[in-house]
Amino acid sequence: MSVTSILSGNKENNQSKSGSEWWRSAVIYQIYPRSFADANGDGMGDLKGITERLPYLARLGVDAIWLSPFYKSPQADAGYDVADYRQVDPLFGTLDDFDAMLDKAHASGLRVLVDLVPNHSSDEHEWFKAALASPEGSPERERYMFRDGKGENGELPPNNWQSVFGGDAWTRPEGQKQWYLHIFDTKQPDFNWQNPEVRAEFESVLRFWLDRGVDGFRVDVAHGLVKEEGLPDFDEEYQQSMVEGGNQGPMWDQDGVHDIYRDWRKVLNEYDGDRMMVAEAWVKPQERLALYIRSDEMQQAFNFDYLLAHWDAAEVRHLIDESLAQTALAKAPTTWVMSNHDSVRHTSRFGLSNPGDRPNGIGRDSEQPDEALGLQRARAFAFVTFFLPGAAYIYQGEELGLPEHTTMEDKYRQDPTFWRTKGEEIGRDGCRVPLPWKADAPAFGFGPSDQTWLPQPQAFARYAVDVEEADSDSTLALYRKVLEVRAEHHLGQGELEWLDAPAEDTLLARNGDVYMMVNFGESAVKLPWDDAKVLAASHAQSSDSELDGNTGIWFQRG
Ligand code: NOJ
Repeated sequence: MSVTSILSGNKENNQSKSGSEWWRSAVIYQIYPRSFADANGDGMGDLKGITERLPYLARLGVDAIWLSPFYKSPQADAGYDVADYRQVDPLFGTLDDFDAMLDKAHASGLRVLVDLVPNHSSDEHEWFKAALASPEGSPERERYMFRDGKGENGELPPNNWQSVFGGDAWTRPEGQKQWYLHIFDTKQPDFNWQNPEVRAEFESVLRFWLDRGVDGFRVDVAHGLVKEEGLPDFDEEYQQSMVEGGNQGPMWDQDGVHDIYRDWRKVLNEYDGDRMMVAEAWVKPQERLALYIRSDEMQQAFNFDYLLAHWDAAEVRHLIDESLAQTALAKAPTTWVMSNHDSVRHTSRFGLSNPGDRPNGIGRDSEQPDEALGLQRARAFAFVTFFLPGAAYIYQGEELGLPEHTTMEDKYRQDPTFWRTKGEEIGRDGCRVPLPWKADAPAFGFGPSDQTWLPQPQAFARYAVDVEEADSDSTLALYRKVLEVRAEHHLGQGELEWLDAPAEDTLLARNGDVYMMVNFGESAVKLPWDDAKVLAASHAQSSDSELDGNTGIWFQRG
């Protein structure tokens, strides 16, 4: 057995999680507040619901939580349209509820990241209302991207940019001469980041939440804030570049964004407690992504290449090598992400015939995933993800093996992507369905009533927390075990060493004193040694000397 490569997780920079730089190896759980837990029975998750369930998260074994937006918002894009960056929307509770949640999280040993949405506000933000009410060229308008239209009477949009959610990226409000830019929905006008007032405002927003005690920020659309000078037209083929995970086009990944993050890092550095930022940047290639995590910018960036991996051992290994190599150059940790609130849940993605493509939702008329196969692969994939050095993310419900809701009726859909593309894109509602906590309760225990803002499929009963807590073979039991072993053997702080795998479809590696073997193929593969002592397995094995198909194990030798 020869060692084929050794990849470091930046060992020289690794510190213990309790000490500084905790984020290098942290496991961070994404809470989508609308769908996590509902304390007041209105069918919408809320901050009190989160507070009540913190013991569940502490027991799961994660180090931190990240909350998607809970700020004051008309909810045109599920809260990613913020009307007041310093207020909690009444749907989710109050600032006092937030403080209580934060205190209890910290007391439970959990750090808390909040979402920062700096590319755009809601059109119901006071600044935007003032902009609409103010004349062209006024300081109020300079906070957003207003432009004259083309055509004889300015009746055509200023350029050919398309919204990520479909349709034009420009809107001309009724009775107005000028158009405003919105890379996302009409109700999400883009800020003008060339304006120092916008920069000062966001530094103040950072301080507002840092002063309250948050441990950091997930930065929304981090690659979009600065647009190319002159806002030039761009090629049709790049129109949907964010959807496809690229960075091409004059609104993405402009070098100017990095000055902003350097300024923010200085703000964070004024605070104790090692606060952090993680970039949501759909940027390619990995070299460009690594620029966001230079030592004076953010600490992490989501690894979306990994989130889009096919069910293919060679591809997964290549992605891992590339990610580790690029982040090592920046002396930053890699992140390992399998699912989030914008992507089809990986349990369902891995049950499709071509799991690497990023399906923009799965609808009733789409190919339906093989639920059992998808779950089996997702469980096996956890043995790759949590084995790797760096930080790992869990999207709520992933620990239950929850599938995407793939048969939702259109009338329930809320994602603007679905409506703006007239149903051509199914959108993201299917991965945002309220969690099942109790199989036999109304709304599967999501809250005290039978209300849920999106309908839950019947299949969720099988995945309810109370069912899985009672089953030692459940995905929840598996996640608890895997996270426990990961922590005990310091895998997040370790080094990855690839070993020659006994079959083409199989990955074999070592991290410290633990070995990982994952079989991406269908048929069983012989274990390379006969002294393997299994620490955890994604499924009970049919033989002690073989690893079944679509299965992963961790073991020690001797
Ligand atoms: C990325 C967020 O994750 C997504 O949910 C949102 O729709 C867009 N940014 C716009 O804020």
